[in-house]
Amino acid sequence: MENLCKNYVIAIDGEAGTGKSTLAKNIAKKYGIVYMDTGAMYRCVTLDMINNSVELTQIDKITELLDKIDIEMTNEDGEDKFYLNGEDVTRKIREKQVNDLVSQVSHIPVVRERMVDLQRKLAKGKKIVMEGRDIGTNVFPNAEVKIYLTASAEERANRRFLQNKEKGIDIPYEDIYNNVVFRDNNDKSSNVAPLKKAEDAFELDTTNYTLEEVEDIVIRKVKEKIQLDV
Ligand code: DC
Repeated sequence: MENLCKNYVIAIDGEAGTGKSTLAKNIAKKYGIVYMDTGAMYRCVTLDMINNSVELTQIDKITELLDKIDIEMTNEDGEDKFYLNGEDVTRKIREKQVNDLVSQVSHIPVVRERMVDLQRKLAKGKKIVMEGRDIGTNVFPNAEVKIYLTASAEERANRRFLQNKEKGIDIPYEDIYNNVVFRDNNDKSSNVAPLKKAEDAFELDTTNYTLEEVEDIVIRKVKEKIQLDV
């Protein structure tokens, strides 16, 4: 087995709604390694633009914001928290106004460039599980472990529908399904870092698996590549 005790990157990429976040968080918690949610970073940039009334086409203003943006990620009593320029934005970055805009913001080249730099900097000297869309292809093409999760659009829409129901959010299944398909096309057809599986990634279709089953399969795969401390 390689990489005994060395620093490493476990890259988890894939479509929205495949359970990437839960999986990455659980691996991090179980093995005491750092978890990084790169989607949340794009969400912070989006919120910063909204807060400063900066439009998608105002590249100079976006660059100015990026020059002074301060994104901090912490874990407080087991909860991941995000701070944007000193303000706790953990909840705000999940709200509708950010949801509606973040995909477009994440496709702006200067945003992508800066966030990828930051992700590489933050990971330096660490054992880390990083979750996103382009981690295994672009951010860490030499990551020690690469996982790529998929699931059918119907199953992902169904998972989101049930999550919403639990939270008392009433959106018809049909609307959710259409949004899932729209986002897939958007993510995969982008000119800037389109979502695609790295050639050397382990691909897992999670459609017919529970979260626990996915975790077991992935952890087994990770252990073939690196030593996970207990
Ligand atoms: O995973 P999420 O829904 O929080 O991601 C928010 C948006 O950011 C989503 O539209 C995909 C995009 N994203 C990206 O382009 N690259 C990443 N590494 C992570 C997220």
